[in-house]
Amino acid sequence: MKTHNNLLITGGTGFIGRHLSEHLVDQGYRVTILTREAATDRSNSDHISYVSSLESLPDVNWYGVINLAGEPLDKARWSEEQKSRIINSRVSMTARLNVWIRNLPTPPQVYISGSAIGWYGHWVEESLDEDSAFHEGFSHQLCDAWEREANKLADLGTRICTVRIGIVLGADGGSLPAMLLPAKMGLGGPMGSGDQWWSWVHIVDAVRCFEMLLDNPQAKGVFNMTAPRPERQGDFARTLGKQLRRPAILPLPSFMAKLMLGEFAEEVLLKGQRVLPKNLIAAGFTFKYPALSDALRNLV
Ligand SMILES: NC(=O)c1ccc[n+]([C@@H]2O[C@H](COP(=O)([O-])OP(=O)(O)OC[C@H]3O[C@@H](n4cnc5c(N)ncnc54)[C@H](OP(=O)(O)O)[C@@H]3O)[C@@H](O)[C@H]2O)c1
Repeated sequence: MKTHNNLLITGGTGFIGRHLSEHLVDQGYRVTILTREAATDRSNSDHISYVSSLESLPDVNWYGVINLAGEPLDKARWSEEQKSRIINSRVSMTARLNVWIRNLPTPPQVYISGSAIGWYGHWVEESLDEDSAFHEGFSHQLCDAWEREANKLADLGTRICTVRIGIVLGADGGSLPAMLLPAKMGLGGPMGSGDQWWSWVHIVDAVRCFEMLLDNPQAKGVFNMTAPRPERQGDFARTLGKQLRRPAILPLPSFMAKLMLGEFAEEVLLKGQRVLPKNLIAAGFTFKYPALSDALRNLV
């Protein structure tokens, strides 16, 4: 049990942040969430409080900061304006956090900075780990700008962990609920060729990864937050159909996906990358849900 170490979480009201905050409170942390919403009357536990500006944070010793806030990728079509909003929401929040952290009397011991496996860009068959190169594209541009801003704190002595998060599977947020309706109707077949790799992680393992990175004083650098067994999208669709006892054969042609979702479909759904969690495994992390069939059985 941690002795009520103070953590600040941005994006703590989102899908990952909600699960993470509740889990970390259960582990004994005292969590403060920075939100754009009015922060009053939100507290639902003795150990979670909400603030709506960095200036209103209490003057306490901060053990750690977790930075997840950002405009959702699937909120609107990716016009140039929306792309700027997606990047700026993350980079400007991170820049403001940097200023706040530099002004603290004692810097936090650990800073976990959000990013995504989109940092690697699109690959076809290659297995990627944290030492792999990237391919250019909007996803790389976004993640790289976010990571660079966070790493500006490197001189402080704070342990910086960058988490390149994969497709997080949960029953109440992320991509899975949106896949369930078509899948239940027997329409959840392959998207495009279905050969593209999807590197996924169960929300339970995702929050356990954050906890390990907070607690392990040796952990720093980049960590791919993905299960050790990525799946091709077509196999993902078949496994989901099997759990739901529905056929998953009706394909969603690429042109249709692009028509419906624009560049988001192109970048996130129709192309992918096979990412492996080399550094998490080297740090001793064990997955509760290494296999997709077990993860989906638990969730649907
Ligand atoms: N879920 C995934 O599969 C996945 C995969 C890879 C990477 N990620 C990244 O991990 C982070 C957390 O993911 P999530 O699924 O929990 O996201 P989410 O549910 O969309 O939550 C993101 C949070 O960011 C804040 N936010 C939204 N728009 C913002 C804006 N324009 N400016 C500043 N803050 C804004 C919101 O907090 P308030 O409304 O309280 O301010 C929200 O709670 C995101 O940055 C996401 O891109 C997620």
